[in-house]
Amino acid sequence: MADSRLLRDEDYNTHFDPDAFIKTYHTVLEDTVVGGLVPFVLKGEHDVFKTGDVKGRRLLDIGTGPVPHSVIPAVPFVQDIYLTDFSTVNRKYLYDALFGSGKQDYSNVFEFLVNLSDKSQPWTKRSDELKDKVRGIFPCDLLQDDIFKGSYFPLFDVITTSFCLDSAAPDVETYGKIVKEISKYLKIGGHLVIVGALDTTYYFVGEHKFFSLNKSAGEVKSCWKNAGFSIQSWNQMEATEENEECDFGGAYVMHCIKES
Ligand SMILES: C[S@@+](CC[C@H](N)C(=O)[O-])C[C@H]1O[C@@H](n2cnc3c(N)ncnc32)[C@H](O)[C@@H]1O
Repeated sequence: MADSRLLRDEDYNTHFDPDAFIKTYHTVLEDTVVGGLVPFVLKGEHDVFKTGDVKGRRLLDIGTGPVPHSVIPAVPFVQDIYLTDFSTVNRKYLYDALFGSGKQDYSNVFEFLVNLSDKSQPWTKRSDELKDKVRGIFPCDLLQDDIFKGSYFPLFDVITTSFCLDSAAPDVETYGKIVKEISKYLKIGGHLVIVGALDTTYYFVGEHKFFSLNKSAGEVKSCWKNAGFSIQSWNQMEATEENEECDFGGAYVMHCIKES
């Protein structure tokens, strides 16, 4: 009998195929399976950073997965970039793509983002700048007390995260606890830029069906406000059509500042 359980946790080491994930959700930018999701996300991230107000020395990205899109808009505005993920497979994929023999170059993501700012720059310049600034790809498990599993980091100026808490948190209460844990790694006055799904319960990677935490915009906002953040901007899109890859209801890009 087929296993109908939605995949999560350790399944990211055994059933999550980075190439299938990128092909489905990050490759065809103008015609994604979830109608415009990736352009919305990339433009939303770009809009937060283009003001130049969101900057600092050290940036932490939580749950980078196999694709570094969440930090690419930040590259010109920070000096040291720390990438993290739960999955050994994703960390290795990302390492090989950025520094090793991996074939993935993320050129369509870089091109899309560079075209939003300075079309005269080759995308490889931003890619080289990212590689120069990445200080490591670290293990992370948001469900543990010690979420970085023994890595001790000084406080960060900027934290980014994209579609990771949706995968990690089993319920909204745990989501709220994770938010408070993440907050401990950010300076007062530091910036948090988060991308996530709304009203979505699963997504497919190849034939494998992964869990996504079903939550509303109001629940997301109140978790961050309860953890001492003030919301600076909130950008939201609604799903316009049904598709087979996920029951996507909407997505958001939020920028907030840690006040306390
Ligand atoms: C949907 S992918 C998102 C990847 C990438 N950030 C993006 O926006 O495409 C979810 C990511 O969350 C990670 N993840 C799942 N459970 C986690 C946990 N408990 N702690 C930290 N990361 C987790 C997975 O390894 C995976 O890379």
